[in-house]
Amino acid sequence: MVLPLHTERLTLSVLTAADRAAFVRYRRDPDVARWQSWSTTYSDADADALLADQPAGIEAGSGRWVQIAIHDAGGDLQGDIAVRALDDQPDTYEIGVTLAPAAHGRGIASEALTAIIDALFRELGAHRVFAVSDARNEPVARLLRRVGFRHEGRNIDADRFKGEWTSLDTWAMLRRDR
Ligand SMILES: CC(C)(COP(=O)(O)OP(=O)(O)OC[C@H]1O[C@@H](n2cnc3c(N)ncnc32)[C@H](O)[C@@H]1OP(=O)(O)O)[C@@H](O)C(=O)NCCC(=O)NCCS
Repeated sequence: MVLPLHTERLTLSVLTAADRAAFVRYRRDPDVARWQSWSTTYSDADADALLADQPAGIEAGSGRWVQIAIHDAGGDLQGDIAVRALDDQPDTYEIGVTLAPAAHGRGIASEALTAIIDALFRELGAHRVFAVSDARNEPVARLLRRVGFRHEGRNIDADRFKGEWTSLDTWAMLRRDR
């Protein structure tokens, strides 16, 4: 995928050290961390480790996550889309999305995700793009439906997450759906 991608309001490029302060700030927000693998203690050192481990771009078949930064026209970090190519299925990509709280409710995630999905299918020849979400997370369910994901199923109390059993929704779209 050729980055940066440009949309009407946004620029999408691989997250760098210049994004670190804003990235750490929103990862520490309780309403953001609640739904994600990290906690509100997420630190600069955690971000540095992520940045050091991150590939320069999406690598087919690698299984490695890449954080794609979402910047507005003023260059401020609004959030990120995480993408990884699975290492056990060809042409299959998982995505995750996070916005800073101040960016919620403006269509930014929809705009960014649509551009990334288009590029995955068009440029990388994706066969399937999918996401997994906490079944209680209504904003992400609305987002994923809005951009065209199909709700494929719910695994009930399948994931021991942050001290409780949680249910997981799987969302997907196929090349032939488009
Ligand atoms: C999931 C998350 C990215 C969704 O963010 P969001 O702001 O709801 O999504 P969008 O940026 O697409 O904005 C859509 C909302 O803005 C509204 N909106 C306003 N202007 C808009 C525009 N120009 N275009 C589209 N939508 C617009 C929509 O009506 C919609 O609101 P609704 O969901 O109440 O109907 C956000 O809630 C988040 O970061 N949560 C924490 C992390 C998380 O849970 N990640 C998912 C883990 S799987």
